[in-house]
Amino acid sequence: MSYDVLAPFYATLERLTFGRALQRARCAPLQTNVAPSTVLVLGDGDGRFLELAVGAWPGATFVVVDQSAAMLALAKKRAEGCCMRFVQADVRDGLRALGDHCFDVVVSHFFMDCFTESTLKRLVSEVADQMSPEGCWFVSEFAAKAWWHRFLLRLMYHYFHNLTETEAGSFPKYGEVLSRAGFSAERLGMWRAGFVVADVWHRE
Ligand SMILES: C[S@@+](CC[C@H](N)C(=O)[O-])C[C@H]1O[C@@H](n2cnc3c(N)ncnc32)[C@H](O)[C@@H]1O
Repeated sequence: MSYDVLAPFYATLERLTFGRALQRARCAPLQTNVAPSTVLVLGDGDGRFLELAVGAWPGATFVVVDQSAAMLALAKKRAEGCCMRFVQADVRDGLRALGDHCFDVVVSHFFMDCFTESTLKRLVSEVADQMSPEGCWFVSEFAAKAWWHRFLLRLMYHYFHNLTETEAGSFPKYGEVLSRAGFSAERLGMWRAGFVVADVWHRE
């Protein structure tokens, strides 16, 4: 099964499993005082972040990339407009399909966990090349700090990995990849006893 099949049930499954925690994490960037002009949204999914971002960041142009046609269709329904460009692409093939940009904000919610660390290393470097020097990257993710976080993540990967055909078979140390690429994190919030976190990463 892929994200195309999962797309219509994705929000309901999420609510049954995590309540409102993931949506709260997605909204964290919208409560900061950034006022971006060009935003890259990686693996936006069904558009629940995007429809709020359009209102919170008026005047911004959004480039939204996702490999799932069904997810993109849902996102378009929620947030289509003249400031919005949707690109169906597998980010592992590189970001050429996006054209040349200088993004001042990058957003990835629960996206890094789809990839192995070696893929993330390449991806982070390509994204960083298309960011303005003072740009920032909002990341919402799960945390693997406590033993029970790691236990839950193992369970999630056991079921979710095959269900969604994602390449990562275990939770990647995405924070180490970002740090090695010269980014440092500031915590915006955490939910579910620290299992769900939202950070903003700046270049050092
Ligand atoms: C776990 S979902 C997260 C969706 C959304 N950002 C959220 O907050 O729920 C991962 C999203 O990334 C997309 N995705 C997964 N692998 C991808 C890839 N290699 N290239 C582009 N998009 C990908 C999926 O189609 C899906 O929409």
